[in-house]
Amino acid sequence: MIGIFDSGTGGLSVFKEIRRLLPEEKYIYYSDNAHCPYGEKSREYIIERSRTITKFLLENGCDIIVVACNTATAAAIAALREEFPVRFIGMEPAVKPAVKTTKTGVVGVLATAGTLKADKYLNTRERFSEGVRITEHVGQGFVELVEKGCLTGPEAESIVKASLKPLLDDGADRIVLGCTHYPFLWETISKTAAELYPDREIEIIDPAPAVARHLLEIMKQEGIIRNEGFSITLHSSGDSKILKETFDRL
Ligand code: DGL
Repeated sequence: MIGIFDSGTGGLSVFKEIRRLLPEEKYIYYSDNAHCPYGEKSREYIIERSRTITKFLLENGCDIIVVACNTATAAAIAALREEFPVRFIGMEPAVKPAVKTTKTGVVGVLATAGTLKADKYLNTRERFSEGVRITEHVGQGFVELVEKGCLTGPEAESIVKASLKPLLDDGADRIVLGCTHYPFLWETISKTAAELYPDREIEIIDPAPAVARHLLEIMKQEGIIRNEGFSITLHSSGDSKILKETFDRL
């Protein structure tokens, strides 16, 4: 059984890609929405929450865990790997593919404050930037929009614009989504980008398909693909309405 967790519904954007490659597996999805957002919380707090959730997933029979949250990956995955004898698959902002294809030579990264200040992200940026300029912005208010199911319309557009515009003004033509909530705002992000810079070829990049491919490889290596039919248990630490609605819309 595959365990997937996030601070909220965001990790469902990763689950969606995983299910394409592993359609006949059993899943437990844990949304920690009672403690969401993680973005501004301390590292210690996120490690503690990740540890509690991991125990829950293991007690319920998971044999591999996807940390479908960039912030929790950055803060906690090393500690989890040390403590628990199970494979963890984490998120990695897609700086590398963005650097390879940018035409303006500027890549914009949208992520939470926690991700952007973490060593894990800073190392990725250092390793893969290859002389390309990387510019960053917190997606201020994006997680809250997704958690209330407000994905399009004037409110979503004005919140998205406030964080996206500085990256585009800085010259970015690749926008890396460094938080698993943000793909749910894809339509609004691409609409806003096209309105602001209609003549620039702007691409939005989500690492979830690469994470799903990596998970598939690891599960093949470990011989833990079961193929016994799809099922999923959705678990929330808080109200489960948005999680269920978002899942139904995937
Ligand atoms: N979805 C998460 C991430 O990928 C966390 C967002 C948050 O809780 O602030 O970073």
